[in-house]
Amino acid sequence: MPATTEERVIALLAGMTLAEKVGQLTQVNASEGYPPEYLGERLRSGHIGSVINQVDVDVVNELQRIAVEESHRGIPLLVGRDVIHGFRTIMPIPLGQAATWNPDLVQAGTRHAALEAAKAGVNWTFAPMVDISRDPRWGRIAESFGECVLLTSRMAVAMVRGFQGDDLSETGSIAACAKHFAAYGAVESGRDYATTNVPETKLRNVYLPPFKAAVDAGVATLMPSFSDLNGVPATGNEFLLTQVLRDEWSFDGFVVSDWDSIRQLQIHGLTENDRESAFEAATAGVDMEMAGDAYSDHLAGLVEEGRISIDAIDTAVANVLRAKFRLGLFEQSITNPAELPPFASEQALATARELALQSVVLLKNDPGTLPLCVDSLNSVAVIGPLADAPYEQLGTWIFDGDESLSVTPLSAIQSLVGDRADIRYVRAMENSRSKATEAFDEAIAIANDADVAILFLGEESILSGEAHSRADISLPGDQAELVRRIRETGTPVIAVILAGRPLTLTNVVDNLDAILFAWHPGAMGGPAIADLLFGVESPSGKLPATFPRMVGQIPIYYSQKNSGKPPSPDNVVRIDDIDTYAPQTSLGMSAFHLDTCFTPLFPFGFGLSYAWFEYSNIRTSAREIELGDSVTISADVTNRGDIAADEIVQLYCRDLVASITRPVKQLKGFRRVHLQPGQTATVEFDLHTDDLAFYGRDMRLTTEPGEFHVWIGGNSAMELRAEFRIIDSD
Ligand code: BGC
Repeated sequence: MPATTEERVIALLAGMTLAEKVGQLTQVNASEGYPPEYLGERLRSGHIGSVINQVDVDVVNELQRIAVEESHRGIPLLVGRDVIHGFRTIMPIPLGQAATWNPDLVQAGTRHAALEAAKAGVNWTFAPMVDISRDPRWGRIAESFGECVLLTSRMAVAMVRGFQGDDLSETGSIAACAKHFAAYGAVESGRDYATTNVPETKLRNVYLPPFKAAVDAGVATLMPSFSDLNGVPATGNEFLLTQVLRDEWSFDGFVVSDWDSIRQLQIHGLTENDRESAFEAATAGVDMEMAGDAYSDHLAGLVEEGRISIDAIDTAVANVLRAKFRLGLFEQSITNPAELPPFASEQALATARELALQSVVLLKNDPGTLPLCVDSLNSVAVIGPLADAPYEQLGTWIFDGDESLSVTPLSAIQSLVGDRADIRYVRAMENSRSKATEAFDEAIAIANDADVAILFLGEESILSGEAHSRADISLPGDQAELVRRIRETGTPVIAVILAGRPLTLTNVVDNLDAILFAWHPGAMGGPAIADLLFGVESPSGKLPATFPRMVGQIPIYYSQKNSGKPPSPDNVVRIDDIDTYAPQTSLGMSAFHLDTCFTPLFPFGFGLSYAWFEYSNIRTSAREIELGDSVTISADVTNRGDIAADEIVQLYCRDLVASITRPVKQLKGFRRVHLQPGQTATVEFDLHTDDLAFYGRDMRLTTEPGEFHVWIGGNSAMELRAEFRIIDSD
C-alpha cells in the first residue's frame, strides 16, 4: 500500500538535520536583484523552503531543479506570489468582486488567476484577504470583500476553491492563504498597520468567521496580520494561532508570517531583539517566516538552548511538508507552461468582463437618464481623468497584470456607439488629485454641445491598497468643482466612478443625474461600463460596504447594535435647527450626529437596476420551530420594469433578545435571480437554527431560543418583514 501523506512527512522529517528543518521554515525574496548563485548555494544546503516574488518560469524551474536534484533531501520549493485579483488578466478588485454577490463567478475568475499564476511556476498565493472591513479610510478595503460576515465568508470560500481546485495536486491548482489573521480591518482610524482592539465576542462573531469558512473549505495556509490585537501583535499571538486555529479549528495547513513581521515584534515593543521575536512567533504558532531572517538566524540556537523543543520545530516543518505533498510537488515540481492555457485566454477575458459587469453598482438614476439610447443622441461628451487610464482601472496589487490588455471606457464607448454618435473626449484633469482647473473650459465646451456628459471620476489605483489609507474619502482634487461646472451647462451629467473604496459622495450627488460606481473594474472594465451605459446590460451589483455621508460617521455599517436610544426621524436634531439658547434636554436624546443624518448615503446591499423589483408576501413556513430545526422564509419578487434583469435578493435576520446584544440586522442568505418583465419569482431561503448561533458571554457557539425578525428585499434598509420563534422544549 502506498504511504499516506502523513507517513511520508514523518519519514522525511526523520532524516533531516536541524538546519534543514529551519530551512523549511524560511522563505526568501527571490525577486530580481537576488543573484541566483546566492539562492543556489542556500538551496543546495537545504536552507530555503520557499521563495517569493520570482515569476520567470525558467528561473523558477531552475530553482526547483537545484532544490530537488542538488540538495540533500531533495525537497521542492513553495513559490509564492500575491495573486490578488488576477495574474496577467486583471479582474475587478476583490471589493468589486464582492459587489457581484456571485460566488460562482468569483470562483471562476479566481480559477483563471490560478491557471495563469501556475503557468509562471507559482504554486502558492497570498489570497484571499478575508478581513472584515468597516472603515473605508483603510486602503486595504480594496482587497477585502467588505463589511459583512456572510458575504465575506462566501467569497472567501469561492476564492479558496478557485485557487485550489478540487485537488491541490492538479496542474493549475495553487495553494491559497487566508489573510490577515485577524481583525486587521479594525485598525484604528483606518490607518494601515495601526492598533486594533476587539473584544473577544466581536472577534468571534465578526472577524473570525470568514477565516473559519476558509479553513473549512480546506485553505492550505494562513497569514497573521501586521497589527497588534488587544496588545499582542498577531504574529506573536498564541490565542489566535494556536488556541483558535489549531486547538479549536484543527487547522492542519501552515502559517506564514507577513513580510518581515516577525522582526517587527521588536518594533511593536513586544520583544527586545530578533532572537526573542523568533521565540515569540514560533511559540505562538508561526510556522514559516516570510522575507526575514529571524528564524534562519535564531531558531536553531533557541532549540539548542532548550527554549524551543525539537518537537515544536518538527510540528512546524510537518505542517509545511504536508502542504508540499498535497500540492504534488514531490511528484512534479517543474512547470511545463505549455500544459497550461495561454495567458489572457478568451475565457479569462470573458470572465473578467462578466465580473466587471456584475460588479458595477447603479447608485442613482434620475428618471430618463440611464440607459442611454444611442438613437436619440447626436453627441456624447466623455470627460475626466479615469475615462482613458488603462493602468488605473486595474486597481491595487497587480504585480503581474498586463496593462496592455486594458480596454478603457473611452475606447469601449467608441467601439460600441462611435459609428452612431459623435464621441468627444476631454481629460479635464491630469489625474484625480489635480487642482488645476485650466482645462475645465474645454470640458465645459464639449459638454455644452453634447446631449449627455459622462464623467469618469474617482481615485487612481495608488490611492488605495496597502499603506494607502485616506482621512478624507471624498473625490480628491477638484473633481467636485468639475462636476459643478459641468452641471451648470444644463446637459445631463452621468458619473462613472472608479475607486478602491466607498467614497463620500455627498458633495456631488445632487449635481449628478446618474451614478455608476465601478470600483477598479480590471482589464475589461471599459466594455462592461459601456454595455451598462448604453443598456446592452442592466446593472446588478450591490454594495458590499456602506457608503457614509461623511467621514465622521465611520464606522457605519448595517449590522450595528441598536443601543438603548436608537435614532429615528422624530428623535434627532439638526445643528441648524438649534435655537440660540438651547438647554441640553431639548436635544433629541438618541444615538445621532447633530451635523449629519444618522443613516448612510447608500446602505449595504444597495444597488439599482434598469428594471425595478417589487417585493411582497414574505412568509415563514412556521411561526415556531424547535432548536435544531429549519424554517423556510420566502417572498415574491416581481420585475415591474420593462426589461429583463438580475436582482440580488437578500435575507436579513435579527435575534431580538439574547444574552449579549445582537446586531439590528445580519445577512443570512442571498440569491441572484433573473426576471423577465412582469415575471414573479418566489425566492425561498432555508434557515437552520445553527445559522443563528453566536458566541455569547461564555464564548461558546450557541443558538438562543426566542423571537426573530426576518426581512427579504433588495438591500439592508428594506422593510418587508416576518417573524418566527425558536423554542426549546427539551
Ligand atoms: C502584505 C501581504 C502580502 C505580503 C507579500 C505584505 O506587505 O501585508 O498581504 O501578501 O506583503 O507581498
